[in-house]
Amino acid sequence: MTRKLFVTTALPYANAAFHIGHIMEYIQADIWVRFQRMQRDGDAGREVHFVGADDTHGTPIMIAAEKEGITPQQFVANIAAGRAQYLDGFHIAFDNWYSTDSPENVDLSQSLYRKLRDTGLIVTKTVDRFFDPVKGMFLADRNIKGECPKCGAKNQYGDNCEVCGAAYQPTDLVNPFSVFTNATPVMKPSEQYFFKLSDPRCFEFLKDWLNTPGRLQPEMVNKVSEWLGEAGEKLADWDISRDAPYFGIPIPDAPGKFFYVWMDAPVGYLASLKNYCDKQGIDFEAFLNDPGTEQIHFIGKDIVSFHLLFWPAMLKFADHPVIDKLKVNVHGFLTVNNEKMSKSRGTGISPLRYLDLGMNPEWLRYYIAFKLNSKVEDLDFNGEDFVARVNSDLIGKYVNIASRCAGFIAKRFDGKLAPALSEGAQTWINRALTQDVNGVVIERQDSIARHFENREFGKALREIMEIADITNQYVDENKPWILAKDAEKTAELHDVCTTALILFRQLTILLSPVLPGVAKNVAAFLNDAEFTWADTQVFGDAVSHSMLGRTIGAYSHLMTRMDAKMIEALFDAPQAAAMATAADAANDAAPAAPALVASTPASAIEELAPEIKIDDFLKVDLRIAKIVNCELVDGSDKLLRLTLDAGEGRLRNVFSGIRSAYKPEELVGKLTVLVANLAPRKMKFGVSEGMVMAASAADEKANPGIYILNPWPGAEPGMRIR
Ligand code: 2FM
Ligand code: ZN
Repeated sequence: MTRKLFVTTALPYANAAFHIGHIMEYIQADIWVRFQRMQRDGDAGREVHFVGADDTHGTPIMIAAEKEGITPQQFVANIAAGRAQYLDGFHIAFDNWYSTDSPENVDLSQSLYRKLRDTGLIVTKTVDRFFDPVKGMFLADRNIKGECPKCGAKNQYGDNCEVCGAAYQPTDLVNPFSVFTNATPVMKPSEQYFFKLSDPRCFEFLKDWLNTPGRLQPEMVNKVSEWLGEAGEKLADWDISRDAPYFGIPIPDAPGKFFYVWMDAPVGYLASLKNYCDKQGIDFEAFLNDPGTEQIHFIGKDIVSFHLLFWPAMLKFADHPVIDKLKVNVHGFLTVNNEKMSKSRGTGISPLRYLDLGMNPEWLRYYIAFKLNSKVEDLDFNGEDFVARVNSDLIGKYVNIASRCAGFIAKRFDGKLAPALSEGAQTWINRALTQDVNGVVIERQDSIARHFENREFGKALREIMEIADITNQYVDENKPWILAKDAEKTAELHDVCTTALILFRQLTILLSPVLPGVAKNVAAFLNDAEFTWADTQVFGDAVSHSMLGRTIGAYSHLMTRMDAKMIEALFDAPQAAAMATAADAANDAAPAAPALVASTPASAIEELAPEIKIDDFLKVDLRIAKIVNCELVDGSDKLLRLTLDAGEGRLRNVFSGIRSAYKPEELVGKLTVLVANLAPRKMKFGVSEGMVMAASAADEKANPGIYILNPWPGAEPGMRIR
């Protein structure tokens, strides 16, 4: 049967830029997808559709948009506009990137709901909810603030405290108030729509579904079985409705009610696929109904219940054709030095910063792949290990083969590879590309393919590196640089370099799901069209190898070594800490690292300004301001345009010369310090209404960094600094 694959990654909330955890998941899925795209089923290439979308609905996005004074649609569009730089930057090749706020998703979600209702699995219940009597709306947990019941911190949200990290119910807050009107919320009954997961049909179905071989990782089957209980007694009905005002999809025949974001989010997978199919002229329904179709989700371990309970139950009882085709691959979290990543501890990795530092995205792809297996395990990033792994494997083993041999082909043989190989060379090729397992010779490309298919990327790369080791051993033993000195050994030199490059090409093809950029350059250098996995199936038949007699292009260096100093810059702790959000600080499990001792020599700091009196200082009105928007300024390579909320009930426009240090999306949502009573200044690009404060070194050549100020968690827009 021809396999048809529909592959997705979890749809990210459209309220922030991608973080490194997203990138890790996308790289994992992208490698798997690229491997699949290289396969052929019969004569045809395998049909693979890899789609993503922004997860747009819900209260947080609605509120964030309201604060910026824009519509949720505009807000989401701004976030979406920032996606490509990450995806392109890390060679992540989705076929389609769409949105859950789309007509396709409205249709698909509503029709799925109607089918569930017809099956008798939607029930309504009246429940008590917090209500803002002034604004006349029900309040989500994050619409209510008050004093933390644990530590007493003021201004904490209704679900958890950003100061002490405690989690609680909104009803636990002391002196609760609505974030919209400051009014004290009251309890009010509201009719809610529930998906009746407690129905015995759901348990019966889920039990069988989970245990279908090949669908889920064994540890997930165990975990979800625990959630189901012996007879489904642990399954509670799921509230799928939210009251207006809510940025979401209306529930049919239920005025003022919207689907809870987690109801329409997974439907967004199908909406993105449908949008893609329509654009490509693919029959969406036929694709979903095709017996060869597989729907594969890559997700993190934190959202398993949505994907392994609610989503399959929804699909099943809406009689959706993909239910039997659904497979879910769950991965762990990315940790740094075996701890949860934390910006405030200086162990956060910003994907854009990585790229800005000029770090090669394929280094990270390789390292992530090397550490990935098919289990639900956390993946630990360790800087030293990263440098050592990349430099040893990619530079020392893989690239080294081409850099030691390609030059001779260009210089001595006019770019042409040998027309035939010696018997000795063929023996080496077989030694590199086959393996004797208990007396049976197997081709390594088969076992490597199995590892990729099973998402055992680490195993695949270890085996590929064994081929590289044998190839290097071959080059070391034959020493082309010595052969090159002896005119009588010209044919031998040709033989050795051709053999090494044939093996180099095989290595490249096997590595190409992980290193697509390098593979493209190698294909160009070797005068190859696009590589397919079938190109690896020439093992043991070197005599007729397509490389023999071929003219190849000039070799240019494929990848540089990683400088360990780059890692220091990647984890630039003081700056990373300054950029920490209150939430990061609150979520840190371990105590914050002690303050760094000042280390700049006294001679390097700027001379102090003349002494002033406190009255002089108080003339400067410094305020906490929230950066609600930030964008590049057309025509200026120095400035960023900041839109600031300093708690005044209006927004300010401020230009700041910090473009060299920050990307706009790194700043949006952060708090900083504004000189609020500075006279407005008319600039070429508009009026600047104040100035944000930033630190820089006296000797800008020695340290060109610019570091904007970021207050301690708890500060709020409008607070004065004194
Ligand atoms: O946890 C999250 O980031 C969600 N936005 C994931 C949604 S996945 C799918 F269901 F859309
Ligand atoms: Zn607290």
